[in-house]
Amino acid sequence: MKNTNVYLLAKKIHRLLVVFILITGLVMTSTGLCLYSGNYLSFDPMIIRTLHHQLSVVFTFILGMMGITGFYLFLFPYFR
Ligand code: HEM
Ligand code: HEM
Repeated sequence: MKNTNVYLLAKKIHRLLVVFILITGLVMTSTGLCLYSGNYLSFDPMIIRTLHHQLSVVFTFILGMMGITGFYLFLFPYFR
């Protein structure tokens, strides 16, 4: 019974983090493509690079949290 509450909490966190991984993922992809192509679309190249660099830590943290909660969601059916 207690495990079910942990499962539901993990599911809630996992679902909330989806929004943040998508936002950071889209910014990482667009700035990453700018860096790759060398086309900065009239933005300051240094701002694009700094944004890509700083956001990479946030992105990795969110992905790690999704990994932890997602792994619990995956294992849950087996240890009930
Ligand atoms: C489709 C997505 C991405 C593309 C196309 C992309 C592309 C690039 C390119 C072209 C560079 C410059 C590399 C160089 O020539 O020195 C770069 C740097 C970097 N990328 Fe990405 N990247 C992407 C996603 C990510 C993600 C998901 C992360 C981390 C979680 C990341 C972390 C970094 C870091 C830390 C740098 C070094 C930044 C700096 O020079 O200060 N990138 N990326
Ligand atoms: C990084 C490792 C990840 C693992 C191991 C993982 C694992 C899982 C598992 C096992 C489920 C099924 C949960 C259930 O039993 O109902 C799930 C659900 C889901 N995951 Fe992940 N996931 C990960 C990352 C992500 C990412 C990056 C996204 C989105 C960009 C994502 C989006 C979703 C969504 C939308 C659901 C459905 C949630 C729900 O119906 O409440 N996951 N994940």
